[in-house]
Amino acid sequence: MMNRREFLCSASMVVAGMSLPVVLRAKQPGPQHRLPTRRVPSTGEELPIVGFGNSQAFRNGDIDVTHALLQVLMDFGGRFIDTGGQSQFTLGEVMQEKQIRNQLFLGTNIDPVDEQAGLQYVEQSQDVQGKKPLDLLQLRRPSDLNKEWRAMRKWKEAGMTRFLGVAISRKQYYEPLIALMKTGTIDFVQVNYSMLEPESAERLLPLAQDQGIAVITNRPFINGQYFSLVKGKALPAWAADFDCESWAQFSLKYILAHPAVTCAITETANPKHAVDNLSAGLGRLPDERTRQRMLRVMQSM
Ligand SMILES: NC(=O)c1ccc[n+]([C@@H]2O[C@H](COP(=O)([O-])OP(=O)(O)OC[C@H]3O[C@@H](n4cnc5c(N)ncnc54)[C@H](OP(=O)(O)O)[C@@H]3O)[C@@H](O)[C@H]2O)c1
Repeated sequence: MMNRREFLCSASMVVAGMSLPVVLRAKQPGPQHRLPTRRVPSTGEELPIVGFGNSQAFRNGDIDVTHALLQVLMDFGGRFIDTGGQSQFTLGEVMQEKQIRNQLFLGTNIDPVDEQAGLQYVEQSQDVQGKKPLDLLQLRRPSDLNKEWRAMRKWKEAGMTRFLGVAISRKQYYEPLIALMKTGTIDFVQVNYSMLEPESAERLLPLAQDQGIAVITNRPFINGQYFSLVKGKALPAWAADFDCESWAQFSLKYILAHPAVTCAITETANPKHAVDNLSAGLGRLPDERTRQRMLRVMQSM
């Protein structure tokens, strides 16, 4: 059986050299290459610890790349995908072709709209995804959170979604979200968290732990800016002590080592990058002392 390094090398080599869907279908990773899982506190359902953001490939309707990306996700035993709007059509089509709908866990974003338009959107999402109920409905960029949350709760009570959440990435939303988190009505929060955007660790993440709320983290690479910062810099040799082989994994392993985090999502339209990112969930994670050392590395850049 291949070891972790051999598996990762072979996965990235085939992705680089050959027709993606064919090669990725042929790859058979062993159980040691499956992502570990963490519990969703409100029900005990297990979620693999790395997932996908709303990839440009999904948004652009790129069926071939979406096939390749979902195959990589399946090979790692991954489940979570953040979606919404047009990208649901691409995912719906590929999930249907690959017969993997029930294996995936979709976080469906909904923007603030009036209740009637919201209901139509939820029903359309169910049809497009072929998921009734939806897995997780996430209110994005709330404008009148209490009012919008009342509608969200009605849809959950009507059995239209299994879980409810709020998905944000800006500090202006932290305070209203913190107030909502104290009401005991929210299953998931999705929030930005990384070495370069650590603010949610001050109050929001500890509160999620106290209240038993699952945490999805977004913007691990600040939409790519992180890579401009580390470009041309050598990965510290001691990163190998926690099985870290790339700068992408350096960010993701820092995030995953936070005890409140259920699943870290990354956006990519490149299956090679997807292998790199999902691999961050395998092997060891840094301890708190090492995390402080990692922060010092980032601060020195
Ligand atoms: N609800 C909200 O308010 C909100 C806000 C922001 C984000 N989000 C969610 O969070 C997801 C991720 O956040 P984000 O959009 O800020 O993206 P991100 O994951 O922080 O960064 C994506 C960028 O990094 C590049 N990249 C990814 N993996 C790489 C790797 N291994 N090596 C080199 N480059 C790599 C990607 O390019 P390639 O495509 O070339 O790999 C892309 O340019 C989004 O897709 C979305 O689902 C939600």
